[in-house]
Amino acid sequence: MQKLIIQGSRRIGGEMNIQGAKNSVLPLMAASVLCGGIVNIGNCPAISDRYAAMRILNHLGCTACERDGYVQIDSGAIRRTDIPDELMREMRCSVIFMGALLGRCEKCRICFPGGCDLGPRPIDMHLSALEKMGAEINIGHGEILCSAPDGLCGAKITLPFPSVGATENIILAAVLAEGETIIQNAAREPEIHDLIKFLNTNGAEIKSAGGRIIINGVKRLTPSAELYEVIPDRIAAATYLSFAAACGGELLIKKCCPSHMDAVIPLYEQMGCYIKCFGSNIYIRSRGKLKTSGTVRTMVYPGFPTDAQAVLMAPLCIGEGTAVFVENIFENRYRHTGEMQRMGADIRAEGKVAVVTGVEGLYGAKVEAPDLRGGAALVCAALSAEGKSIISRAELIDRGYERIEDNLNRLGAAVRREAE
Ligand code: EPZ
Repeated sequence: MQKLIIQGSRRIGGEMNIQGAKNSVLPLMAASVLCGGIVNIGNCPAISDRYAAMRILNHLGCTACERDGYVQIDSGAIRRTDIPDELMREMRCSVIFMGALLGRCEKCRICFPGGCDLGPRPIDMHLSALEKMGAEINIGHGEILCSAPDGLCGAKITLPFPSVGATENIILAAVLAEGETIIQNAAREPEIHDLIKFLNTNGAEIKSAGGRIIINGVKRLTPSAELYEVIPDRIAAATYLSFAAACGGELLIKKCCPSHMDAVIPLYEQMGCYIKCFGSNIYIRSRGKLKTSGTVRTMVYPGFPTDAQAVLMAPLCIGEGTAVFVENIFENRYRHTGEMQRMGADIRAEGKVAVVTGVEGLYGAKVEAPDLRGGAALVCAALSAEGKSIISRAELIDRGYERIEDNLNRLGAAVRREAE
């Protein structure tokens, strides 16, 4: 267990390179199972979920190892098709190894995935889609046994909700399936397109337009030796925008992708920050009291991302006026509000809605990270607060943010890590 000790009320300034996308590198690592040879994935963030994915790959018989600035994965030999409970439970994304193993080995044995506690997070859409493709699925004793002895067949699948994980699982299962798979009402997040681009680089035949993805099954993939660079992490970029907005100062975020943040950046401008996007850079300047962002509704991409909800809420706790959040994606994604109230925030959360009334300032306190993005929001609140804060369960923050204290200290913050 880890904790972060943060001395607040310091301005944030300087420049930084944003990390590669957590929610892209994990599906790419699962997809490497289909490649049947060596692939090289660059711009991999040094986050704990990535190392969890490497442990799963090595357990399956692949070799996943660190090279100089990239991860090399050789999936030539798959020796196992089961993923033990302790590996599955480390993160939500482990569930998409199901599609990859079914696609490559026509069977797998997994348990229900872990990940942030944001509500029930069922996988019914994943399972019903794989059954439509010919998989036999038996669930019992907390395990999911899948098999497709005659191989998977392409199918036309309309998702009831554009689930990111279900879209990824279907793509992975369809790449080596017999015939054509069409996904309608598919997720449109940039991470989905990164997965499609990675698979096509390795010989898959996938086209996508709007919420429709067409996969033409191929016999095998041809692993490419070229280094494949993961897209920038748009949620980490939003998080550092919030750090600068809440603390005041000037920050240049480099190696990011502003066009992935069209629903996010205008909200910081609405709050009174000056933002300039040029090339792969975002410059933010925050001075004086922040204004309210009005009502923020989380939506599927290209709407405002649910993953940025908590980190946008943090600076608004000390803004002028009232902001209203409507969380439309997950049932239980306000667990950070209770911890923020310990720091003096005025937030009332009821069901999908949270009302944030700006206060003069927050004060340091002992708080506990409830999940990955809620933990990052508490870091933001602590950076702007008067006095010292201690954030426990910081290992949850490490799941999605690489070297957060090093980055922040380089930008003028005072953050120390201690084992609990
Ligand atoms: C991915 O989770 C991301 N995780 C999440 O990021 C992100 O919040 C989410 O997509 C939405 O953008 C990864 O990519 C590893 P969903 P996922 O399937 O795939 C319901 C972070 O902080 N649903 O799009 O689990 C589900 O309960 C994490 O980086 C079903 O009902 O999200 C939720 O309410 C958190 N049945 C909604 O759909 C299903 O079979 C969206 O879930 C699948 C999903």
